[in-house]
Amino acid sequence: MLILGIDTSCDDTAASVIEDGVNILSNIVSSQDEVHKKYGGIVPELASRRHIEMILPVVDEALKKAAGVAFKDISAISVCKGPGLIGSLLVGVCFAKSLSFVHNIPLVAVNHLEGHVFSSFLDGVKPEFPFLALIVSGGHTSIYRVDGFGLYKELGRTRDDAAGEAYDKVAKLLGLGYPGGPIIDMLAQDGNPEAIGFPRAYLPGTSDFSFSGLKTAVKIEIEKMGRLEDEKRLLTSQPLNFLTSAVLNDIAASFQSAVIEVLIEKTVASAKEQGLNNIALSGGVSANKSLREKITEHAQKEGIKVFLPPLNLCTDNAAMIAAAGYYHFKTGQLADFMLNPEAYLHL
Ligand code: KG4
Ligand code: ZN
Repeated sequence: MLILGIDTSCDDTAASVIEDGVNILSNIVSSQDEVHKKYGGIVPELASRRHIEMILPVVDEALKKAAGVAFKDISAISVCKGPGLIGSLLVGVCFAKSLSFVHNIPLVAVNHLEGHVFSSFLDGVKPEFPFLALIVSGGHTSIYRVDGFGLYKELGRTRDDAAGEAYDKVAKLLGLGYPGGPIIDMLAQDGNPEAIGFPRAYLPGTSDFSFSGLKTAVKIEIEKMGRLEDEKRLLTSQPLNFLTSAVLNDIAASFQSAVIEVLIEKTVASAKEQGLNNIALSGGVSANKSLREKITEHAQKEGIKVFLPPLNLCTDNAAMIAAAGYYHFKTGQLADFMLNPEAYLHL
């Protein structure tokens, strides 16, 4: 059974064809990073315009790459209905509804967060139910208990910025470009994580997170460094540039260790509290090298197994939307042409 997945929830135009809910025949993602780079973050209006330009060629390519699959071979079209940027979501949902109408193919609507959970079922070894899911991306940082397909209980979430958002904002402060996560991940590998003692918000007694204070602490640290440089410049009349690559590496490593320490400790503590032996990570930040290594190491000591999607399934993609859609289709949960996207949507 072939499912065509479509995701336009944020700044990537994505389409994928998967077979029997698990085999990826094609997985096409057209990134908009070049469009948004100069603004240091996503500009929603530009994102939706680019989705309009890219949706047709991306879906075409997904069908071609899937060994020339045609619409007549597709059993259902699975589209992401939210959460996300409303203008971006509208493009995917309208396109999917049109395809469904023209080709008479059943339509399925999927929550983007459920899609991320399903990325763990697509490749390699799959977690067994029940398990703990940490979804950590640019828009979300949440912990769920997953007891089965469709059985999700939110245990905690960020109270302000998502972890990926903190990466992107700190990268912007440092003039590193967008998206910030992969750049900071790379710089941090050559930096000292103990160089600067950034604060960690543990929010004891909860499985919630908070990252906006950390972002402000980085800002204050950079301003402090700048002031010290100004004082030095007055004394020496030498042109100085305090943000040398060694300093950038140290800021990146210290910031990153503050983010991932909290993510790891709280996720493992939450799994223990729930009596769960499996943790599945998903979302863009789960591509982080240090997070992947350290959470596996830390959880292992507690007898907990960690499941990590391959890097191309961590960030937004449509294969995960098709995988979740397969389950919806099999259980008769179909959408109709009244389907509308929702920017804010819980799982
Ligand atoms: O899942 P995703 O593609 O989109 C959302 O649903 O938000 O995640 C994108 C986020 C961005 O904030 C990006 O900076 C972050 O994931 N990211 C990373 C890494 N790769 C992407 N953060 C840390 N380390 C990485 N290697
Ligand atoms: Zn996402």
